[in-house]
Amino acid sequence: MSKLSLQILLLLSAILFGAHGAVCPNGFKLINGNKCLRVFTNNLKHLEAETDCSYLGGTLVTIKNAVDNRAITNLAASVGANTVWIGVFCFSTGNTTTCYSDDNSGVLNFKSFAAGNPAVQGNGGCVYMQISGKNAGQWMSAPCEVIGMPFVCEVPLTNPDSSCKRNYNGYCYLPSHELQISAPNATYSQAESICQSNNADLVSIHSKPEVDYIRAMYRNAGAQSIYLGAQAFLPDTFDWVDGSNWDFDNTDPLATIKGDCLAMDLSSRPNNGMWSETNCQNINYFLCKRRIGGAVMASTVMPSPNVISSLEEEEAKPKRVNPRFNLKKHSELLDYSNCNATILMSPGTITSFGYPNTQPPVTFCTWNLAALGPYRIGIYFTDFSTYGNVKIYDENGNLISQPNGDQRPFQVLGATNIVRITHDSSYDAAYNYHGFSAAILPF
Ligand SMILES: *[C@@H]1O[C@H](CO)[C@@H](O)[C@H](O)[C@H]1NC(C)=O
Ligand SMILES: *[C@@H]1O[C@H](CO)[C@@H](O)[C@H](O)[C@H]1NC(C)=O
Ligand SMILES: *[C@@H]1O[C@H](CO)[C@@H](O)[C@H](O)[C@H]1NC(C)=O
Repeated sequence: MSKLSLQILLLLSAILFGAHGAVCPNGFKLINGNKCLRVFTNNLKHLEAETDCSYLGGTLVTIKNAVDNRAITNLAASVGANTVWIGVFCFSTGNTTTCYSDDNSGVLNFKSFAAGNPAVQGNGGCVYMQISGKNAGQWMSAPCEVIGMPFVCEVPLTNPDSSCKRNYNGYCYLPSHELQISAPNATYSQAESICQSNNADLVSIHSKPEVDYIRAMYRNAGAQSIYLGAQAFLPDTFDWVDGSNWDFDNTDPLATIKGDCLAMDLSSRPNNGMWSETNCQNINYFLCKRRIGGAVMASTVMPSPNVISSLEEEEAKPKRVNPRFNLKKHSELLDYSNCNATILMSPGTITSFGYPNTQPPVTFCTWNLAALGPYRIGIYFTDFSTYGNVKIYDENGNLISQPNGDQRPFQVLGATNIVRITHDSSYDAAYNYHGFSAAILPF
């Protein structure tokens, strides 16, 4: 096809798709043409509010400019709220460079704090917006787990499709137990061909909110796990079957089983949703995902994702390659421990100082771990060998756990998005203990 005719086709399809226009999922209101918002007027504590938003595939609202700030104030005022939780979390007082937006966009650009805020006291990193009175539109700090108030959830825009029951972020999700098929479970290759007969592929996953949307879809569905649309083309090296990039990873750091397919855990544990390798011949529930409007796009303009398979393009695309443990081997970087870092945002890795040196140096380390406002912190010790206790504290300074000795891999789950860990390595080398390594993930 010539460049010109391709451009014409692209233009044509842009017009066709533009005519449809993006929409918000049911129950959400399109604000300023760029945000899907819904105000919930029940009084919930911060984490409860975040959890409710996450079931819808969203977070508390993130605010990027004064126009949106004003629109959100008006929206909340129209349903009678005096204050609402918003999607901002601050880790220290009087310093907005320690405030993060729920949407993983990093340190805040736009902010609307009232004088004297953020004022983080005790467990007060959460932020709400004043809706009524002279401070309307201004942001203030409040203790997350003490006060309950209304809140505003935000979910991504999507494309209209009246035939799609689960429409999220421009895709239609088709869980196997809702398809017209004889059994809701199948091998990987059967599952992928059932998806293809529904103009879809097995699901690929690209963000934490998408993980949460899928977790919510399977609450009470009776599936313990589902196949994801990924297959290994080399050991431990996966590719999404729909041709999309490996731009997000949620592998369970403690998974040990090997296989050429990936399954997502949907058991009832609080940190479910993680991925692990599995045998492709296992019989599993599965989830199909199709781009809304994608059938038209594929047949007119873009080669179907499945067709893109020349070696060159394979090389160019990011792949999953042991994502969490391939530490950069710069010779000048002697310490990967993150010992004494001011704040380490998850996902990340910590190790004892000097790890994996079998004669660890004597020192004392503190790790201040944090997740964005919507999440709690999971600590996954993949290797553990210490003489003294490794002390793990919640954000109020209460000791959650204090493992020691030689241990098989294990997890410790935090109660909120802040955890502090301390380790005194004074006797480790003397008694032949080699320290620890842990993956830190939000859940
Ligand atoms: C604010 O926090 C940042 C990052 O932690 C730090 O570099 C900066 O010095 C702090 N500023 C003030 C005024 O405390
Ligand atoms: C497949 O699903 C059916 C219905 O839920 C269940 O009875 C059966 O045990 C499942 N088979 C396997 C191998 O998991
Ligand atoms: C970490 O901080 C503690 C006390 O603040 C200090 O004693 C220790 O030497 C530091 N550790 C390293 C490895 O810098």
